[in-house]
Amino acid sequence: MLVPATGGIIEAMATPGSGILIVFEGIDGVGKSTLIARLAAALTAAGEVVVESREPTDGEHGRRIRRSAVEGRMSLADELAAFVADRREHVEQLLAPALARGEVVLLDRYFYSTIAYQGARGADVAELERAMRGQFPIPDATLLLDAAPAVTLGRIAESRAAAPDEFERLEALERIRAIFLDQCARAEEMIRIDAIGEPDEVYRRVATALASGVLAAKRPGRGLDTKTLGA
Ligand code: TYD
Repeated sequence: MLVPATGGIIEAMATPGSGILIVFEGIDGVGKSTLIARLAAALTAAGEVVVESREPTDGEHGRRIRRSAVEGRMSLADELAAFVADRREHVEQLLAPALARGEVVLLDRYFYSTIAYQGARGADVAELERAMRGQFPIPDATLLLDAAPAVTLGRIAESRAAAPDEFERLEALERIRAIFLDQCARAEEMIRIDAIGEPDEVYRRVATALASGVLAAKRPGRGLDTKTLGA
């Protein structure tokens, strides 16, 4: 039932040139944006040209998706089509050009979220995985920030009153997390990071994984070690 990552497609779609695409994934409230901001500052200080972006984007499709979260959710088919249209535009207009210029792109959510979230909503996970990996560039590294929903929901609840549907949400987030972890077991570029801990400690895990992995591979001799990354 599970679809293995197929080398041919990944190699054919791999990031061209000297650009580096690093994606951050994980369930809501896991702390992606703080980590991305810190990493972006460190890489910029080290002389890299860094582009920060996120999905859904602030473009037309992305705005429609965010509106639907407030005004009433779209059908699964419409939602899926909107995320794909948003991503296609994002890749064409922002990601591919930045990578072709040799820049470092730090991306908050990408196709792994479609597989996990729309998969959890009922779409066929294997089919989604095939479709996503077949039509969008495979990142150089994808960090899955992993934490139990009970913990992330606790973090979210600290800043606002607990929602009445919390149990339902917990169950949905458990399904989403399981699909993320499932993808991680199959996708070579995906690295699980334990997102539980002090912010400095989680950042150190991220910096260590990148310094010894993608940054050493794509920027050899540039000294992008954990110290340079401020970890
Ligand atoms: P956003 O407001 O960006 O939340 P966050 O700051 O937690 O990322 O909204 C993103 C929401 O959209 C989030 O709940 C995950 C969901 N999502 C999908 O369902 N499918 C997708 O393909 C993407 C990119 C996001």
